[in-house]
Amino acid sequence: MDLSLEQTINNKLAHCFEQLGLDTRFAVVKPSDRPDLSDFQCNGALALAKQEHKNPREIASQIAAVLEQDADFSKISVDGPGFINLSVSDSLISSVLCAMAQDNRLGCSRVANPHKIILDSGGPNVAKALHVGHLRSAVIGEAIRRIEKFVGNDIISDVHFGDYGTPMGMILGEIIRQDGDLSRTSTYNIEQISDFYKRANARCKENEAEKEEASRITAELQNGNPEYYKAWQHLRQVSVDAVKKNYDVLGAHFDLWLGESDAHQASQEVIKMAQEQGISEVDDGATIIRLEESNKPKPPVILVKSNGGIGYQVTDIATIKMRVDDLKADEIIYVVDKRQSLHFEQVFEAAAKLGLVKHTKLQHIGFGTVNGSDGKPFKTRDGGVMNLEDLITLSKDKVRESMPEAKDLEGFASEAEAQKYIDTLVEDIAIAAIKFQDLKNNIASGYVFELDDFAKFEGKTGPYIQYAIARINSIMRKAQAAGIQAGDIIITNREERDLALKLAQLNNVVMRTHEEKEPSIISDYAYTLAQTFSTFYNASSIMNAATPAEASSRLRLASLTRDVLKLLLDLLGIKAPEVMLKK
Ligand code: ARG
Repeated sequence: MDLSLEQTINNKLAHCFEQLGLDTRFAVVKPSDRPDLSDFQCNGALALAKQEHKNPREIASQIAAVLEQDADFSKISVDGPGFINLSVSDSLISSVLCAMAQDNRLGCSRVANPHKIILDSGGPNVAKALHVGHLRSAVIGEAIRRIEKFVGNDIISDVHFGDYGTPMGMILGEIIRQDGDLSRTSTYNIEQISDFYKRANARCKENEAEKEEASRITAELQNGNPEYYKAWQHLRQVSVDAVKKNYDVLGAHFDLWLGESDAHQASQEVIKMAQEQGISEVDDGATIIRLEESNKPKPPVILVKSNGGIGYQVTDIATIKMRVDDLKADEIIYVVDKRQSLHFEQVFEAAAKLGLVKHTKLQHIGFGTVNGSDGKPFKTRDGGVMNLEDLITLSKDKVRESMPEAKDLEGFASEAEAQKYIDTLVEDIAIAAIKFQDLKNNIASGYVFELDDFAKFEGKTGPYIQYAIARINSIMRKAQAAGIQAGDIIITNREERDLALKLAQLNNVVMRTHEEKEPSIISDYAYTLAQTFSTFYNASSIMNAATPAEASSRLRLASLTRDVLKLLLDLLGIKAPEVMLKK
């Protein structure tokens, strides 16, 4: 038997369609829009009727007549113009759930043809501390990485460090302006380097000559000036170290720490390829590739600037070449702010023109911005950009408000031990709050950072799901202490049935999240599952169940819910503490 309930029903339906000589592509069900009337619905008869110019109700009735013979369906009806409403027997539900409980993947399938994905989802830059704008690519990217890995794809994440653009020339220029040369560069730490960058940025905005100077230094750096290169190596290393720390706290993992600079050699190759293939042309001293402008104007890709420097577009094209040639990517996914959509359209089109991506799928998953309550990109109170570190501190402070004091905690050898325990818990909850608030929103739409609510233990928050898991852990400990063991699932009331049906959706939810690359599908499901559990538990006591078999069944439902919720949080990159504390 298939471990997924929906798949089991689809298989039965396909078999029935085959028997009736109907096109099996329409043999699919979905959870019913009216759960009060049926568990699932199949709208296939309507589509079939259109295709074959027949009466949809007649086709639906034929299908229903065959399915009625199957004892796994408890109720079948044809409604409206030809919808087939199906309810399944309790015994089918429980056998699917028992199989799920015994499977170490909880009944989740793997993709039929695993492939290699390179995930480009960090995009931090030298000398810039991670800010709230970097949150989404790290958090969404990590969720996608985990989900793709879970469904069986080979996914490699690359941070794609921004280490070769004009900001490099700006910082070097600023250091030279202050120190006279670059001899002291190797003594500077991340704060000092960021300050150089901030000052340089302000100056270059006002002063055209200094901007040009920065651009010239960048071009020289790229063309191998040894003095610039040595200083730049230090700037890069210090920045990588700082950014790594931030990502560690966020739990964002990167397999590769390559940067734009690593594409230098490949950039030269791309420029040469374009010239040889006759795709590029010289325009006003720059070498460019013109793009199709069929639906809308699309600016050309600039391969080499008039001062000899190479830009952001070329490094991205060259990086595609490396990922295809060296890493054998079947697919490259970019999780980058959607304001860079045009950039990726240009880059993808140029890569295709150059023949770099014959068998490789390129996808830009563009996310919306994190906004403040005014609907504009989230800022600190004084109007500055919110640093990621400050945001994490803010979240921790919120979580701490609902934590007990260390001195009031029992069962610890010392108050210091208790404090250590609380601190770890606060961090896990604070990060969960930030991540879940991000991942519960559709990727493409931006969201308002709910300063007052995101870290609460109630509502659609990370801490709420964490709390639901910890609560089930405690229920399980108590039941086990009372000698109750989890057993076969028997359905005795509506709430048990609702929970069981909800649990049986897991595989579909995970596969849909993978197909649509939309982690909010998992967040939505985790939230409704936790709520469904709560309703179930209020109605169905384990300790006071009517029979031992009923108690065992309920304990099984509880432990399965716990395992599913833990898996969901894990796929989102969120920790699930065993125990949660509350004031
Ligand atoms: N460093 C870039 C920025 O801050 C983002 C990089 C995104 N990735 C890419 N392959 N272009 O805008």
